[in-house]
Amino acid sequence: MITIDGVTKKYGQKKVLDDVTFTVEGGEFLSIVGPSGAGKTTLLHALIGAEDIDAGGINVDHYEVEKLSHSKVQEYRRRIGIVFQDFKLLPQKTVFENVAFALEVAGHSKGFIQKRTTEVLKLTGLEELRRHFPRQLSGGEKQRTAIARALVHAPELLFADEPTGNLDPDNAIALGKLLLKINKHGTTVIVATHNKDIVNTVKQRVITLDKGRIKSDKKNSTYK
Ligand SMILES: Nc1ncnc2c1ncn2[C@@H]1O[C@H](COP(=O)(O)OP(=O)(O)O)[C@@H](O)[C@H]1O
Ligand SMILES: [Mg+2]
Repeated sequence: MITIDGVTKKYGQKKVLDDVTFTVEGGEFLSIVGPSGAGKTTLLHALIGAEDIDAGGINVDHYEVEKLSHSKVQEYRRRIGIVFQDFKLLPQKTVFENVAFALEVAGHSKGFIQKRTTEVLKLTGLEELRRHFPRQLSGGEKQRTAIARALVHAPELLFADEPTGNLDPDNAIALGKLLLKINKHGTTVIVATHNKDIVNTVKQRVITLDKGRIKSDKKNSTYK
């Protein structure tokens, strides 16, 4: 489903991704770990077509991501789910409205939006908070809202960059469990994080990056 082949990215003379090669099958859960500066965010950005690369290729389904035109990138992004570290919730919209927004923009019917948004709020444990505004939410609740929003259009693939942000260990563990549940429902999940609680809760495939290179790639792994 995803093929990353010899991906290299330089900032000036410095290689921040150095000949990165791996594949991800549909239905996998992959954690990309490594210290700050290892290249995790750069790799995720390359995967969502938000960063040019200097060598190599990235294929996601039939998309040759590094070659996509601006309009094709938009089409590709509509088919994946993305969760950023800083949530990017709309402050003047409720939880329900934040999650429903992408479906409204896509022109779905009111009935469909109601049904699908409620489904995703249930999955992420946010039903009771549907009328709350972002400022009335805890960090963990905001994060779950961001995940619900990323899932509302039922993407086959979910990308998350440091989704634990500043969450405490209990919230990080809860988030790991939620991502695992989403993965069990059939979504391929790729998480870039340096948070050990989340990786050790999930215990799936772990790729360790160090100075832009893959140091290890292990199944059912933890992060120490
Ligand atoms: N726009 C940029 N210009 C120059 N260097 C950058 C830029 N973005 C990231 N870097 C550098 O690339 C390296 C990898 O960064 P990043 O992918 O953010 O790592 P991580 O997410 O693992 O912490 C770091 O050394 C960082 O300073
Ligand atoms: Mg990062």
